Amino acid sequence: MSDPRCIPHDHLSPSDVSGLRTLFDAEYRRSHGEWDPDAPYGYAPADVHVIDGDDPVLAHVGFQRRAITVGDRTVVVGGTGGMLVAPSARGARRGERVLRELRAAMIDADAEFGYLGCAPSVVPFYERAGWVRISPTEYHDDLAGRRVRERDDSPIMICSASRDASEWPEGDVDLHGRPW
Ligand SMILES: CC(C)(COP(=O)(O)OP(=O)(O)OC[C@H]1O[C@@H](n2cnc3c(N)ncnc32)[C@H](O)[C@@H]1OP(=O)(O)O)[C@@H](O)C(=O)NCCC(=O)NCCS
Repeated sequence: MSDPRCIPHDHLSPSDVSGLRTLFDAEYRRSHGEWDPDAPYGYAPADVHVIDGDDPVLAHVGFQRRAITVGDRTVVVGGTGGMLVAPSARGARRGERVLRELRAAMIDADAEFGYLGCAPSVVPFYERAGWVRISPTEYHDDLAGRRVRERDDSPIMICSASRDASEWPEGDVDLHGRPW
């Protein structure tokens, strides 16, 4: 197995984009339409991508560095999205590997914590990789730019980056933009 590659969004080659498009379209095209690298399924785009495999791409996760508000504090997070492993490559720790690389890249980018929202079914996967579930009230912007409150039953998870996850502050979260 070769090591995952960490690539800034602006440095993705045409072949990287094509490999990612194949990975995402195979999983989501029928349900969510075509993958758009700059607005993936309406979520905020990544500014750093971790990619495992060349041709085909077997796994991906990305993050966007953003200052958000937690209570009365400003916190810099690596907003994480696009976690996907090709069906034929699942169960071989590729997901875990790209998350490990992601965390190193978030530290390099001076993000304090990783942050993501996910389906309840994948909470155990992220927990295995060291992420911690938190239960704040979250506000973010929808596609029309309106500030909306996330449902209380949608899992939110954080991980340590330049600060330990135990230092996450108390309070409501405002993402000041679209979620990832
Ligand atoms: C979820 C997903 C990324 C996991 O990737 P993967 O490469 O198969 O996972 P790994 O092999 O790295 O698994 C690491 C650990 O997590 C566990 N795990 C993996 N997927 C899991 C799931 N869906 N639910 C619970 N545990 C899971 C594994 O059993 C393993 O645990 P172990 O340490 O006890 O052996 C992959 O199944 C996927 O792409 N699913 C569809 C897209 C998706 O749901 N993405 C998340 C969007 S938020």
